[in-house]
Amino acid sequence: MSASGSGFFVAFEGVEGSGKSTQVASLVRWLEARGHDVVAVREPGGTELGERMRNLLLDQHGPAIAPWAELCAYMAARAQLVAQVIAPALAAGRLVVADRFGEASVAYQGGGRGLGTQQVGELYRWVTGGLLPSRVYLLDLDPEHGLARAAQRTAGRLDRLESEPLSFHRRVRESYLRQAEDEPRRFLVLDAERSSEDLAQAIRLDLESLFTGGTSGIAGS
Ligand SMILES: Nc1ncnc2c1ncn2[C@@H]1O[C@H](COP(=O)(O)OP(=O)(O)O)[C@@H](O)[C@H]1O
Ligand SMILES: [Mg+2]
Repeated sequence: MSASGSGFFVAFEGVEGSGKSTQVASLVRWLEARGHDVVAVREPGGTELGERMRNLLLDQHGPAIAPWAELCAYMAARAQLVAQVIAPALAAGRLVVADRFGEASVAYQGGGRGLGTQQVGELYRWVTGGLLPSRVYLLDLDPEHGLARAAQRTAGRLDRLESEPLSFHRRVRESYLRQAEDEPRRFLVLDAERSSEDLAQAIRLDLESLFTGGTSGIAGS
């Protein structure tokens, strides 16, 4: 990987059913086959605290959660994930692949819930100590299509966020696209209507070019 021995951090983002988990699994298999030391994490979760919070946050039949409480809970789970898993892995020179990260809070709570994308983005940078993915793969998809895919996957059982109205998911998609526009060097937007194999190939090519294409991509700042 990078000559310096420091790790590399990539995240997958997109609306429900856009293919994040499919692409994470595919990329992790490919990287491991090439001898990379990979740590895959999902959000919220990835630590004992985070997994317990995940159950609370996504359970449709769980307690009421006000929008700011929801945001802070996601941020708390994320802070724990950074401290306990991501920062140590990167320090050890490992490759971290995340199924969602702070860009999701900006999109879901900042955009979807209307808390404000700028404020949520600032909070995100505080709680991670400025640690952001060097590359964000945004799987862009019409949420109506994504939700139909997700419903198929879970036999119609939707979690708390999946159950939000289509208008919410449209705001989420728009917030993701605006983040990508604002940070074109960190984001790669992919049309998630493409086949899984086609997307996986595009992602591998991009990562290879980041690994071999000089330090600017690897530093990611
Ligand atoms: N590129 C694709 N084209 C068609 N279907 C896909 C594609 N990627 C994933 N799927 C299917 O869509 C559903 C949701 O994919 P998943 O990876 O779980 O999405 P996410 O993690 O973003 O919610 C799954 O049933 C998966 O098999
Ligand atoms: Mg998923």
